Amino acid sequence: MRIDVVSIFPEYLDPLRMALLGRAIDRGILAVDVHDLRDWTHDVHRAVDDSPYGGGPGMVMKPQVWGPCLDDVCPDDAVLVVPTPAGEPFTQRVAEELRNESHLVFACGRYEGIDQRVVDDVARRGRVRELSIGDYVLIGGEVAAIAMIESVVRLIDGVLGNAASHQQDSFSDGLLEGPSYTRPEHWRGLSVPPVLLGGDHAAITRWRHEQSLARTRARRPDLLDETGTAARRPTPPSS
Ligand code: ADE
Repeated sequence: MRIDVVSIFPEYLDPLRMALLGRAIDRGILAVDVHDLRDWTHDVHRAVDDSPYGGGPGMVMKPQVWGPCLDDVCPDDAVLVVPTPAGEPFTQRVAEELRNESHLVFACGRYEGIDQRVVDDVARRGRVRELSIGDYVLIGGEVAAIAMIESVVRLIDGVLGNAASHQQDSFSDGLLEGPSYTRPEHWRGLSVPPVLLGGDHAAITRWRHEQSLARTRARRPDLLDETGTAARRPTPPSS
């Protein structure tokens, strides 16, 4: 997969080269390129924003800068992702859709966002997803882009050491993941649940499912349907 990110703070994206993502880059599974939006400005101030039509607070990012930038960076067969609190929710399902793409381009806005015509223009020739990582407002799209990129890239075959680990994630079966334990068996007066020590794999699977359901009921009842089971059907593993 190829990922391009455009930002006025390219160094904000440095974490993309660390840990598992860095290893995926080293192994040729992933190519990441980060671009400074100001490279597409032509004025002495390298201005990327202007005051909004219609008035109001804040600044809007200029179409005359973003347009030529995306002409260069975002070909018609890529998916343009625009992180914005006004986007559709970014969920595990969206991550699973995006992991099948060969090229993603992230356009990180700051201020009050990017002139809408930039998105509308790319949508005339390609695919655009305006996505929000949650019901809160960040200062810019960079942190949201990193969150989305991590969750997409870890689903690509070969990125995680053990493919089963993402098939057991919270959300992959529509439920939250239950608790996990490792050695020692007793620690600060707290013990590992005995069922995990017994080696009865059917009992362990049953117990884990009950824990998932109980946790989901307590923390995220919105994920359950009227019958108390996961509202979201699991997606089959990729071929
Ligand atoms: N930019 C600012 N806030 C955001 C959010 N919640 N999700 C995605 N992009 C954002």
